[in-house]
Amino acid sequence: MSRLDSMLRRLAAQRDGLNWMADQITGIEGDVVDFGLGNGRTYDHLREILPDRRIWVMDRVLQCHPSCTPPAEDFLQGEAEPMLRKLRETGVKIALAHYDFGSGIKDNDVAESARLSPLIAAIMQPGGYLVSGQPLVGFEQIKGPDTIAPDRYLFYRA
Ligand SMILES: C[S@@+](CC[C@H](N)C(=O)[O-])C[C@H]1O[C@@H](n2cnc3c(N)ncnc32)[C@H](O)[C@@H]1O
Repeated sequence: MSRLDSMLRRLAAQRDGLNWMADQITGIEGDVVDFGLGNGRTYDHLREILPDRRIWVMDRVLQCHPSCTPPAEDFLQGEAEPMLRKLRETGVKIALAHYDFGSGIKDNDVAESARLSPLIAAIMQPGGYLVSGQPLVGFEQIKGPDTIAPDRYLFYRA
């Protein structure tokens, strides 16, 4: 598969997965977090489909499209580990987490998602959901929407 096809499948999986999860979390209290602001595409989508939720967003750098700049109070700028601890200290509970950290080097990305999983678990609302481009550890893996190949994007319940 070309990298262009792979990218298109990834973006479609993100959109379909986030739309599907927005329905799943109806009735579950809590905020939303987007791990990896990047260009701001998934953050922008989340705020469009979940306008009534507070959406935290985390990244070591602020380099998104200007139209997707999050409010300063919702942006956690820094390395994931200290920022996850900071978020935990606020006492928030997360109903939906989208994990989109990654460097493109699979071994490193899988090791990082495993290392961060316990810190992510500590901020999740019991019964909350996670959508992830990398495997997470310690959550119940669930089947996502039929439009997404099972290995393309991953779905979990806390
Ligand atoms: C694939 S991009 C996110 C794309 C974004 N969700 C979008 O739709 O535009 C991954 C982002 O995660 C950030 N990142 C990766 N590992 C990180 C870490 N350990 N701590 C903080 N940010 C990290 C990178 O700076 C990068 O902007």
